Amino acid sequence: EKCGLTGTHLGCEHGACGACTVLLDGQAVRACLIFAVQVDGQEVTTVEGIAGDDGELSPVQSALRECHGLQCGFCTPGFVTSITALLRDNPQPTDDEIREGLSGNFCRCTGYQGIINAVHRAASCTESPAE
Ligand code: FES
Repeated sequence: EKCGLTGTHLGCEHGACGACTVLLDGQAVRACLIFAVQVDGQEVTTVEGIAGDDGELSPVQSALRECHGLQCGFCTPGFVTSITALLRDNPQPTDDEIREGLSGNFCRCTGYQGIINAVHRAASCTESPAE
């Protein structure tokens, strides 16, 4: 399936839109601003590497789908990688922290509220289960 949840996209090529965001040693970076030589020896994770080996969607990917956090899907790979990094650094972000953390990712379709809801849902899915 080649949709926004599972395929890396190249967007503006100027570092403005965030669609091409990948993880470099776990940090979200814009792939279009990075030369291959700069990543020598570092771990690059694209959205293709975020789902499980069996293709099972990650909590962030599932939450975006369930919360209507994507429409055309063009921006989605960048949001998946950016949200994954955001939640690793801040497992329970506030709305303001989510907006700030995702301010480098543009979405022309959703109005962002579904994306913010998805971040909260993914955060609640990934917290350690209370016994
Ligand atoms: Fe279309 Fe975000 S879903 S740009």
